[in-house]
Amino acid sequence: MNIVDSYRRYFDEPSQKVQLYFAPGRVNLIGEHIDYNGGNVFPAALSIGITAAVGKRNDDLIVIKSESFENEVVIDPKEKIEFDQKYGWGNYARGMYKFIENPKKSLNIYLKSNLPDGAGLSSSASLEMIIGYIISSERKNNDDFKKRLSLLGKKVENEFIGVQSGIMDQFSIVFGKKDHGILLDTHSLNYEYVPVFLKNYKLVIINTNKKRELSGSSYNERKYQCEKAFELINSKKDINNLCEASIDDLKYIKDPIIRKRAKHVITEEKRVLESIEVLKKGDLKKFGELLNQSHKSLKEDFEVTGIELDTIVNSSQKQESCIGARMTGAGFGGCAIALVKEDEIENFERNISKEYFEKIGYKPSFYISNINDGVKKLGGDIDG
Ligand code: GLA
Repeated sequence: MNIVDSYRRYFDEPSQKVQLYFAPGRVNLIGEHIDYNGGNVFPAALSIGITAAVGKRNDDLIVIKSESFENEVVIDPKEKIEFDQKYGWGNYARGMYKFIENPKKSLNIYLKSNLPDGAGLSSSASLEMIIGYIISSERKNNDDFKKRLSLLGKKVENEFIGVQSGIMDQFSIVFGKKDHGILLDTHSLNYEYVPVFLKNYKLVIINTNKKRELSGSSYNERKYQCEKAFELINSKKDINNLCEASIDDLKYIKDPIIRKRAKHVITEEKRVLESIEVLKKGDLKKFGELLNQSHKSLKEDFEVTGIELDTIVNSSQKQESCIGARMTGAGFGGCAIALVKEDEIENFERNISKEYFEKIGYKPSFYISNINDGVKKLGGDIDG
């Protein structure tokens, strides 16, 4: 059933006019776990994501129904909005409502998603951004508004949900541009669109299908370890953030774990900048090698991969049709990306699936997604 019909049936409004909105998921091409260290990251918005149908209500409430979940979320402007486990996915929407200045009310919102949940493609940031975009009363198509919206999403994660994540996910979901990656300096929030021409290769996203929740994972611990590394180096020489440190500065860190974490951050920052250079020259093979190196660093030094992601990435890298593969997003499960020759994708998927199933006991899923635009209004006053 299309989303307009689903909306009308669910809210029992057979002929109500609705507005449609879309927020993409994101994939990070390279620059992992450095957006909370002031580094440069290189994410892109996907063509898969969350679509919303929105109509008016006669009372003050905002009622949100997602096709993927049983419970509906009701936001009552008169209530005090607090985080509560019992609201589940609804906490992301409630958090946005709490932090947005002068939010709209009296809305029915029906959501339909083709983004896997909890799989490292930023389904939660996509939800934050679509709700934020819908309920903002001062929505504008300029950088100022977009930056403010992304920062509010980060605030929801940090202060409402309790994950100390960076700005990358929300920023790429709002600023996404068709066929372009976003080189984002997370220290200044300056950014540059860089064309991603993959020639006869495609970006294949491979979901480990291992579920994980960021707030329950070691994400916050990694952030803390990076802060420690920053303090140690900064006490010897003046730096603004860990990504400004050099490999030589690792000598200031005695603890082997903290040193490894810092090593990943410092080398990953270099890989991002090199990736941009080689992509601008059209050297996809070199870009692929940098993806491989990034995974190795995330596995050995940052230790956020795990057997599922390593199995997928190892078997991808073994395929002749693949010129590079790495985990993407926070890790600990979730998704990997691989650059695969277009006419060999079927074979590639078959081989990876087989090896993964033999080792892990269940199958991965594959998505071929294009790089697309950020959150936007699709159309209004749809009569069905
Ligand atoms: C998650 C966080 C991001 C970023 C990545 C790792 O997606 O939300 O801010 O830290 O992990 O690069």
